[in-house]
Amino acid sequence: MNDRILVIDDDPSFAAIVKQFLESRGFSVALSYEGASALQQLRDYKPELIVLDLGLPDIYGGELLVKIMEIDPDSTIIVVTGFGGEQVAVEMMRRGAVDFLSKPFEMKVLHAAVKDALRLRKVRLEFRRDQILPTLEKFFPFLAHEIRNPLHAIGGALAVIQRRANLQDEPLARSVQIIKEEVHHLTEFVQECLDFVRPVNKRIFTEININELLGVVLNIVQHIFAENGGKIRVSTALAPGLPAVQANYDELKQAFLNIVKNNFEAMLEQGGELQVISRGRPAPEPGWVEILFVDQGPEIKKENQKDIFTPFFTTKVKGTGLGLPICHRILVERHGGRIKVESEEGRGTKIEVHLPVR
Ligand SMILES: Nc1ncnc2c1ncn2[C@@H]1O[C@H](COP(=O)(O)OP(=O)(O)O)[C@@H](O)[C@H]1O
Ligand SMILES: [Mg+2]
Repeated sequence: MNDRILVIDDDPSFAAIVKQFLESRGFSVALSYEGASALQQLRDYKPELIVLDLGLPDIYGGELLVKIMEIDPDSTIIVVTGFGGEQVAVEMMRRGAVDFLSKPFEMKVLHAAVKDALRLRKVRLEFRRDQILPTLEKFFPFLAHEIRNPLHAIGGALAVIQRRANLQDEPLARSVQIIKEEVHHLTEFVQECLDFVRPVNKRIFTEININELLGVVLNIVQHIFAENGGKIRVSTALAPGLPAVQANYDELKQAFLNIVKNNFEAMLEQGGELQVISRGRPAPEPGWVEILFVDQGPEIKKENQKDIFTPFFTTKVKGTGLGLPICHRILVERHGGRIKVESEEGRGTKIEVHLPVR
């Protein structure tokens, strides 16, 4: 199959030359002369590569580029600018274009750019999450073992130093503290990675009282944030007589912990209230329970909302970006449940978990 290229340019004679040239080099080419039909072609023709001229009659090319990336984040786009458009080109690359050409350009330059862009696309797609996961699953437990042992040793040695050295010395005490924090961070990171890739074989399902489990989780989190969570209040509304859920206790605990840790982290600076609610799902879903976690922290930015379940996506200096992907694996993939996130400016974040009672 030939690679499909969509050329978007409002100059029909130039577009025709480009089409003829690319077809002579073995590509399939479709043309659009303005934005509306280009978006339609994107859906119908499913191009591997898009050559986008920025000067279009109905929409600014930069705006169209953003729309294209929203429809398909894997889109591979070469931007064509007028003479002296380097500044614009840089902005377009920031918005997701892979390359740019300034008009006028020679066909052999276009050919080279097209080949490079397609090569880049291939590499990118290969590294996408679903393809990288199986590799991680095989490799990570081994890596974790190699990291955890030395970390334990460092932690132990550090404890000895703290006991025996003269930590009145301010810079020394500070250094020890830094090592301690970093060791702690690495240990957590490795643990989260392990939780993420852990094989599915230990599937012990028991009857779990969700309200009790939530109590345990809130306790743990209040413990974790004992020092800096003073401005955060927790209120609960747990439905009495909630049916027990068939689930893996440790996994569910892990998932709820990850959610509540995020709620706390979101409110660490400004404080606020975390509401935890459990109840049966309303009809027509009698066999389900729902758990809501509602915080009053800053919202999750619109542009980030699609990424928060992607492994390693984080907006935190010391985040791992694995908390929510782990939740997704546990709640959705292993328990047949759902997790929904709603976040709006000024209204904090609501995480909604649905679980089948089974
Ligand atoms: N309750 C929340 N409030 C605001 N942002 C959140 C909340 N929960 C998750 N996020 C966003 O989702 C990202 C991914 O979360 P997560 O997978 O737990 O990784 P991490 O907490 O290590 O960053 C966070 O970095 C943050 O930007
Ligand atoms: Mg987290």
